[in-house]
Amino acid sequence: MTFDTALLLICYLIGSLAFIVGLKMLSSPKTALNGNRFAAIGMLVAIIGTFLFYRNSKGEPLGNFILIFIAIVIGIIIGTLTAKKVKMTEMPQLVSLFNGAGGLCAALIAVVEFKSLISGGIIYQASTGYLLILIAGLLIGSISFSGSVIAFAKLNGNIKKTGSFKGQQFINFSVLITVIVLSVLLVLSTANASIYFYAILVLALLYGVLFVVPIGGADMPVVISLLNSFTGIATAFAGFLYSNQAMMTGGILVGSAGTILTLIMCRAMNRSLGKVLLGSFGGTKKVDGAKDEGSYKEISVSDTAMVMNYAHKVIIVPGYGLAVAQAQHACHDLDKLLTEKGIEVSYAIHPVAGRMPGHMNVLLAEANVPYEKLKELEQSNTEFPHTDVVLVLGANDVVNPAAENDASSPVYGMQILEVDKAKQVIVNKRTMNPGYAGISNALFYEPNTSMLFGDAKNVLEQLIAEIKTM
Ligand code: TAP
Repeated sequence: MTFDTALLLICYLIGSLAFIVGLKMLSSPKTALNGNRFAAIGMLVAIIGTFLFYRNSKGEPLGNFILIFIAIVIGIIIGTLTAKKVKMTEMPQLVSLFNGAGGLCAALIAVVEFKSLISGGIIYQASTGYLLILIAGLLIGSISFSGSVIAFAKLNGNIKKTGSFKGQQFINFSVLITVIVLSVLLVLSTANASIYFYAILVLALLYGVLFVVPIGGADMPVVISLLNSFTGIATAFAGFLYSNQAMMTGGILVGSAGTILTLIMCRAMNRSLGKVLLGSFGGTKKVDGAKDEGSYKEISVSDTAMVMNYAHKVIIVPGYGLAVAQAQHACHDLDKLLTEKGIEVSYAIHPVAGRMPGHMNVLLAEANVPYEKLKELEQSNTEFPHTDVVLVLGANDVVNPAAENDASSPVYGMQILEVDKAKQVIVNKRTMNPGYAGISNALFYEPNTSMLFGDAKNVLEQLIAEIKTM
């Protein structure tokens, strides 16, 4: 091993360790920001190490410095501007785009490496193992890219109509089988390699589209997380191609973290991954909001203030509407006001409340809500029966009892926050319209539920002003 190679390996080791420690630090909001910085420094060390110490099999250093530098500068500008401009409510779209970009990179690496292997459509100097890794990177990266683009378009509202068409599963299955057959042909034969390779690329892109299009809106978080794990796996394969340890570690960490998150979310919805991928849960099916539900009670801001002022224990349930209204600061102000009055206040966080994993935690952390006040689903469900008032702020699907008691409901099986067990439930939203899954919510018609209509931020500000006068 040359001295340069040893230095390069040390840089990759530092990078890999920084990724692992950074990821560990992401597990708590207190250390998450520094964890992100730590991992970014690790990436910087790996990039600088590659620039300085990389040597190819002929001992030549890295070329194309100017092109690489221009690409890095463009990437930094786009990344910084996007991260600064993106609204909290649009984070899932951004995550999808980042996923897609990672998948595209992995696929492009496979294309570039393949081109270096062939001449006149014939493969030279490639072992079966190498070809398999190359195909795996191409396949998974391409599926992740096109799937993420569709996920972005769905979350962004560019694709509204979804749902599977007749024979969809058969077509998906056929595309997958064809890709496998083409992959075997590519590994076994040397001639026609280019045809097989590019056919795999096109079919994998098609499969990504076919795989994500039918998935219902409410299952999108699971899909995004799954695509995230695909991107990680594809990157790990690309790392194998280059024998780049930092890339392998990064890919494996993203792949395994994405897989674990996917399984956690499936568990939170009480659905198997297979059912998520094959079913058509939520999203597209709009049900008349008030169908057969009876009548609901409305409550004014001043009555709400009265009820909350005399409560001993209040649980706030934040949802997507809180993020849309940017009401997290007003929400924390209400919490502080009630706490000063000796009222016990906590927050019940559903794992898929909002539009991305951890959406509510990030939002409330931004408003400096102490992390200890955020209670997970299981703990909250044990506390609701001993709670005087539950204030639901812009949440809908995650408190829908149909998930527990209506087997025909598209959300049936999803774990919910059982807010109806509390003495009184006050639900703030603007209208009686359904939430993301597009279904009605029987909670709104329960005798212990009152509807407090209005934009969450306005309502909270009025509520705070009212309680201050008491
Ligand atoms: P939703 O079920 O989408 O309900 C949000 C509610 O907020 C809506 O009913 C809406 O009613 C209300 N709202 C909107 N703007 C508001 C405002 N300015 N002020 C007050 N209320 C407002 O949200 P949820 O309960 O948080 O459930 C999340 C859903 O999204 C689940 O179905 C989940 O599967 C899905 N999803 C989650 C994720 C992740 S990972 N968290 C990602 C994608 C999808 P009005 O229009 O009447 O105001």
